[in-house]
Amino acid sequence: MLHNAVLVLGLLSLLAPALPAQPLDASCAPATCGKLTIKYPFWLRGRQPSYCGYPTFGVTCDDPTFATPPRLNDSYLRVLDIHYGNSSVVAFDANMVGSDACRATRFNMSNSLALSLLAVSRANWELLFCANCTLTRPAGSLPLNCTRFGGGAWFMSLNRSYDPSGPAPPAETVGCRYSVVPVLPWTELSAVGDYAGLVRRGFLLEWTVPGDCAACNASGGQCRYEAGAKAFRCFCPGGRLQPATCGELPFL
Ligand SMILES: *[C@@H]1O[C@H](CO)[C@@H](O)[C@H](O)[C@H]1NC(C)=O
Ligand SMILES: *[C@@H]1O[C@H](CO)[C@@H](O)[C@H](O)[C@H]1NC(C)=O
Ligand SMILES: *[C@@H]1O[C@H](CO)[C@@H](O)[C@H](O)[C@H]1NC(C)=O
Ligand SMILES: *[C@@H]1O[C@H](CO)[C@@H](O)[C@H](O)[C@H]1NC(C)=O
Ligand SMILES: *[C@@H]1O[C@H](CO)[C@@H](O)[C@H](O)[C@H]1NC(C)=O
Ligand SMILES: *[C@@H]1O[C@H](CO)[C@@H](O)[C@H](O)[C@H]1NC(C)=O
Ligand SMILES: *[C@@H]1O[C@H](CO)[C@@H](O)[C@H](O)[C@H]1NC(C)=O
Repeated sequence: MLHNAVLVLGLLSLLAPALPAQPLDASCAPATCGKLTIKYPFWLRGRQPSYCGYPTFGVTCDDPTFATPPRLNDSYLRVLDIHYGNSSVVAFDANMVGSDACRATRFNMSNSLALSLLAVSRANWELLFCANCTLTRPAGSLPLNCTRFGGGAWFMSLNRSYDPSGPAPPAETVGCRYSVVPVLPWTELSAVGDYAGLVRRGFLLEWTVPGDCAACNASGGQCRYEAGAKAFRCFCPGGRLQPATCGELPFL
């Protein structure tokens, strides 16, 4: 009985290619926001259904001129570029952007950045801000007067590596305060005023999402996110949602 049912299903699947191909739903066709192409695992909030990508990857295009880059997950992260080939995004943190470097002494990127499936890339460099630490001031560090921000003498330095697991604690003393901001690789810090341009260029985040989108795509499907199952799905011709790829035949 079960054997027959499987056999019938198998035959139907084998016959399927002979039927007129149903067009795939176009609702998740790549969309644009300024110079960005938005496609899986990203989706354009308000213009595409949420199943077009993972929840955290909703892009809000509030300024198509791109003067104000789009938001990621309606958060403080603004997207400057998306590299689909190596699964990375360049974004800046709206909290950090501004001409006064002292604002960075109030925030801690490694603590505040908690978007699931996205991690700050090791390819970044880091801006380190320290006050009242015994750490030897690294070569090239610059003093920062943050009296107006309620804390006195800080220094800012640029480190040519970034540790995503968090800032390496500077040699601690009571009252040592520090924070860390990832930035794209650059040159040397020459003045405190470099801060504004450096944070505005953004930093790299890398994503890892469940499911093999390339394999689904190669089998003729479209990559989807199914909210009910909280999982990747492959949307196939005829409207079937498959767990991995289209054309999974029940071979006997
Ligand atoms: C991904 O590729 C882009 C363009 O080639 C490059 O700028 C970026 O640094 C790469 N991302 C990572 C994480 O290496
Ligand atoms: C994305 O935004 C929603 C709504 O603000 C929030 O509940 C959710 O935690 C955010 N997702 C992540 C991964 O931070
Ligand atoms: C720091 O700035 C404040 C005013 O904002 C000023 O009174 C003070 O003298 C400055 N300190 C140094 C060391 O420049
Ligand atoms: C550093 O320590 C001094 C003296 O204890 C204090 O006045 C100052 O506010 C501290 N700076 C910061 C940034 O906490
Ligand atoms: C620069 O980063 C590396 C790796 O995270 C760390 O070992 C080193 O102590 C950092 N240098 C400074 C001056 O913070
Ligand atoms: C930043 O985070 C580190 C470790 O998580 C913590 O020790 C440090 O006090 C934080 N700095 C600020 C300014 O919150
Ligand atoms: C799927 O493949 C098509 C054609 O090769 C390509 O244009 C599209 O970007 C791919 N989609 C994804 C999500 O990789």
